[in-house]
Amino acid sequence: MEKHPQQVALITGANKGLGLEIARQLGQQGLTVVLGARQGKAAAPAAALRAEGLDAHDVELDVTSAQDIATLPTFFETQFGRLDVLVNNAGVQLDNGPDVSPDTLRQTYEANVIGPYAITQALLPLLRQAPAGRIVNQSSILGSLTAISQGQGGSWATPGYTSSKAALNMLTVVLAQHLADTPIKVNAAHPGWVKTDLGGDNAPLDVAEGAQTAVRLALLPADGPTGGYFHDTERLPW
Ligand SMILES: NC(=O)c1ccc[n+]([C@@H]2O[C@H](COP(=O)([O-])OP(=O)(O)OC[C@H]3O[C@@H](n4cnc5c(N)ncnc54)[C@H](OP(=O)(O)O)[C@@H]3O)[C@@H](O)[C@H]2O)c1
Repeated sequence: MEKHPQQVALITGANKGLGLEIARQLGQQGLTVVLGARQGKAAAPAAALRAEGLDAHDVELDVTSAQDIATLPTFFETQFGRLDVLVNNAGVQLDNGPDVSPDTLRQTYEANVIGPYAITQALLPLLRQAPAGRIVNQSSILGSLTAISQGQGGSWATPGYTSSKAALNMLTVVLAQHLADTPIKVNAAHPGWVKTDLGGDNAPLDVAEGAQTAVRLALLPADGPTGGYFHDTERLPW
């Protein structure tokens, strides 16, 4: 098919919270946005974004489902003929204390590490064809070895979540190095502490502010950074 005239972005975990807002802001920047979510949950928010005048679509995507991931390349090829931006936003925090069971650790890694890796791997051929491919991994400052070893994070520094985000950070670095001779940029984002179901009501930032880091990294110009870890424009220590 003919290439879609506009840049196309996939945002995972886009039925609510930061993912939905990242989709909204990228749509407002003129991109076609595809909201990924599990259990059909992206259809209603995609319709809501269309009602706001944005070009929004939805795709069934449980990031832990090999079956869902396998459908993605054909979906983008047939619907749009392209994919320019991948925001690996979906994530879980399943542990809330100093101990985590192996099963919970495994579930955390499936969603926060293996899912983003597998989705990126599946979509990389399409991203390579894009003139300015961008991959954003929604990390957290809680994935920073520097921050956690300095005692930042407090009671949020649980072993499952922190180590999964640290692993996602390393995948970011390794992939950026692997793609260094291509136009593709790969960066990790820390959104700040944001009011969402995951962040809770006490967080200081609203989703509109929290989405900005990932949106900026999704729209980086050709001379922008790759292989970095950012909150807003601030470079964070790994
Ligand atoms: N809020 C913060 O302060 C903060 C800080 C640092 C980093 N982050 C990161 O930001 C990202 C978004 O979090 P949020 O704050 O917006 O939390 P949220 O409102 O709880 O949203 C999490 C999203 O991830 C989705 N998700 C979880 N597991 C999934 C799976 N297996 N397949 C597909 N989607 C899945 C959820 O879908 P369901 O509705 O189906 O569960 C939901 O859409 C996460 O990666 C999180 O770690 C958040």
